[in-house]
Amino acid sequence: MSNQQANTPLFTTLLNHAKKQPVPFHIPGHKKGKGVDPEFRAFIGSAAFQIDLINISPLDDLHHPQATIQEAQELAAHLFHADHTFFSVQGTSTAIMTMILSICKPGDKIIVPRNIHKSVLSALILADAIPIFIQAEIDKELLISHNITTEQVEQTLKQHPDAKAILLIHPTYYGVVCNIVEVVKMAQQYHIPVLVDEAHGALFSFHKDLPISAMEAGADLAATSLHKLGGSLTQSSLLNLKQTRVNPQHVQSIFNMMTTTSTSYLLLASLDTQRRYLALYGRQSIDQTLQLAKYARDEINQIPGLYCPDEQLYEYHSVHQVDPTKLIIHLEQMEITGHEAEIWLRQKHRIEVELSDLHNILCIISIGDDQESINQLLFALRDLSSHFYQQSQNRVQHITIPDLPELVMSPREAFYHTQVRSLPLEQSIHYVSAESITIYPPGIPILLPGERITREHILYIKENLEAGLPVQGTLDPEVTTIRVIY
Ligand SMILES: Cc1ncc(COP(=O)(O)O)c(C=O)c1O
Repeated sequence: MSNQQANTPLFTTLLNHAKKQPVPFHIPGHKKGKGVDPEFRAFIGSAAFQIDLINISPLDDLHHPQATIQEAQELAAHLFHADHTFFSVQGTSTAIMTMILSICKPGDKIIVPRNIHKSVLSALILADAIPIFIQAEIDKELLISHNITTEQVEQTLKQHPDAKAILLIHPTYYGVVCNIVEVVKMAQQYHIPVLVDEAHGALFSFHKDLPISAMEAGADLAATSLHKLGGSLTQSSLLNLKQTRVNPQHVQSIFNMMTTTSTSYLLLASLDTQRRYLALYGRQSIDQTLQLAKYARDEINQIPGLYCPDEQLYEYHSVHQVDPTKLIIHLEQMEITGHEAEIWLRQKHRIEVELSDLHNILCIISIGDDQESINQLLFALRDLSSHFYQQSQNRVQHITIPDLPELVMSPREAFYHTQVRSLPLEQSIHYVSAESITIYPPGIPILLPGERITREHILYIKENLEAGLPVQGTLDPEVTTIRVIY
């Protein structure tokens, strides 16, 4: 590790600027926190306001980095095995949209797994790109989507040799990766770039027991959420680039179109300092995280009614590797849904899970965990089991994820269609949807604009609504109607 990684060019510049006690006549109007609500200031500390600054010239500009931001991005690029890194202050969603808009022009085809995050859909609409969907493999026991297989990719590339790019999810929200190295090789044969949604893979470069990172696998662009698992402040993220097929200046120009001109220096400083932390201590912190995750998984598998898979997932073709820090806790023989378990754990034990669905809860173990937090989780899960385990109960058979729907028109055409009307969910079957319906989290659309609505969709949406899961996306906030094209 080079000594350079111990430096924090941007954060240090901000600190030096604050030390000079400048008298600001520029935004933000709170002027070093003096105009801020006192309770809020006392809570987060007045120091934060000293560096809540804007792009005045000593501090460089994220839209045209030439000084400290450039240096900070270069250090990040080096650490993440990239040729260029762009800092995002608008989460990974903006990094994903930038990636796709940098590659796809109107009418271009892009190969994507169907279990995309909704930001991919936003980019498809903005770019007017045509998605060529691959249905991710469905786990029949957990009833979640895993990933796509190399065979599916090979077949799709043969059928669509004119596709302009392929997008991978690396890993899925539940921590599953496909064989990215093989997919990159295939894409290279077709001379097309591989774009990677690496929202949940920020730590992959730091430990051999985690899957390979997108950049190390040879991908061209990767949107990598440092804020999700890497420890930086929420909303701060990275877009990493390898310069083989993609022009960084073009990516910068698209990134500028998508990014606020009031970039948060608190978020940028968090990226700069967290990059240093990971460079210096990442490996050892992740060592401990992996040990804690293994301990938690082993213990959970002893709790009656709960099942926390790991090796078992490898039975699926699309599961090349799993991120062991993601604990999918399947409520195998419990008399409650995942969502009810989420609420119960919150109310009874102050445990906040990452997400729940009808059959599972997902807990992430991260570099911020310790033995105490793991023990609290285990205590709560044992209590959950003692209340809801039903040895003799037959498993309630829930409706499975609908098959790959027919894409009748491009998401953009459907989204901007003029002949649209709202129909009650039950009456919308066979129509083409003009909007998307998503459960967030995980934010994977059940229906996209342009897809034909089937009975399975409606049953699945209703089951999720009845279970109290956060179904959203329709103009109708209650999701009793959906806009369709007629
Ligand atoms: C797989 C995946 N991709 C992208 C995103 C978007 O990341 P962000 O919330 O940082 O915009 C998420 C967020 O949950 C995600 O789960």
